[in-house]
Amino acid sequence: MALKPAPSDHFTFGLWTVGYNGADPFGGPTRAPMDVVHVVEKLTELGAYGLTLHDDDLFAFVSADAERRKQIDRLIEAKDSTGLKVPMITTNLFSPPVFKDGGFTSNDRSVRRFALRKVLRNLDLAAELGAHTLVMWGGREGAEYDSAKDVRLAIARYREAVNILTSYVTDKGYGIRFAIEPKPNEPRGDILLPTIGHAMAFIETLDQPELVGVNPEVGHEQMAGLNFTTGIAQALEAGKLFHIDLNGQRGIKYDQDLVFGHGDLHNAFSLVDLLENGGPDGGRSYEGPRHFDFKPSRTEDEEGVWASVSANMQTYLILKERTQAFRADPEVQKALAAAQVEQIAQPTLAQGETVDDLLADRSAFEEFDTDAYFNSKGFGFVALQQLATEHLMGAR
Ligand code: GCO
Ligand code: MN
Ligand code: MN
Repeated sequence: MALKPAPSDHFTFGLWTVGYNGADPFGGPTRAPMDVVHVVEKLTELGAYGLTLHDDDLFAFVSADAERRKQIDRLIEAKDSTGLKVPMITTNLFSPPVFKDGGFTSNDRSVRRFALRKVLRNLDLAAELGAHTLVMWGGREGAEYDSAKDVRLAIARYREAVNILTSYVTDKGYGIRFAIEPKPNEPRGDILLPTIGHAMAFIETLDQPELVGVNPEVGHEQMAGLNFTTGIAQALEAGKLFHIDLNGQRGIKYDQDLVFGHGDLHNAFSLVDLLENGGPDGGRSYEGPRHFDFKPSRTEDEEGVWASVSANMQTYLILKERTQAFRADPEVQKALAAAQVEQIAQPTLAQGETVDDLLADRSAFEEFDTDAYFNSKGFGFVALQQLATEHLMGAR
């Protein structure tokens, strides 16, 4: 029986995702363009909480002010009449030819200045729309050839740009935070800040790091061969999960942007378990939007687009139910105890124990019997994974 998404689930979608016309590097559009008012009405009808967008999704690049204003007003009227929110917006610094070598880190200084102005203007729009997060996906920040980009200086330019943006929102008093979206490659051969780890290291070098977090995307970490749930756990541990892009990816290949769960379903299960049950009281560990950045397959018609939208939310809600059953299962509790999963919460040194105390503790080293671990009792992780698999399959 289909689960019914509600705005309280905080599901959001990009105007560029549901509006994706099917074009790819090997073929033109298969679908007609979609109007923003129609998208707002359909997402509301399907139970979504919000819409996200790039500036250029709403009005064409370098639109005249009148056209820009008309489109903004149409969106505001539609969202206010339906109750749909715009929690996040972002800036297109990657499609127009001017950004062919990037925006913030183009070798061309006048392009860098233009890119900054475009984002500064977009921050004013974000404030007007009530968005609290500005995502920065630096899709064109990078290179194909190592000698073409001095990465140390490119990182310095990236830092300069982000510092200017954080000082702007502070001076303006905008309640806006920034979320950097890592991706290893595509469209550039190598994109700067390619993973969650690179982005979090960069954030620590900024003037106002407290205003900047990450917007990890499932497929992007998996394109780098990384475990997405692990990356999210580290971002949560650092208090840096400011937004999230949910979708599906089937292995290390081009960015598929599949429906959430249509790729690595086990990792989707553990991700939803972390987001929904990983909080201190066993509740939500992340309160932000559940944002789907997916592309309805080129093969689909408009009906298929909306079926894909529902599929994202349906899969998430089913996984939420399955993970709650997993957590409530006494067999799972027993297997978690056998695997000593909770033990890692205990600090390795005792309260008040010093390094000298550790060095003096012969049971920790000199008299520690490592041979006892040969042929010893296992952790039972496989039995735990089988329980997760059976819950995932609805077999328990
Ligand atoms: C991609 C990215 C984009 C960004 C979007 C928001 O691979 O194309 O995921 O969809 O998320 O541009 O910045
Ligand atoms: Mn993507
Ligand atoms: Mn994305």
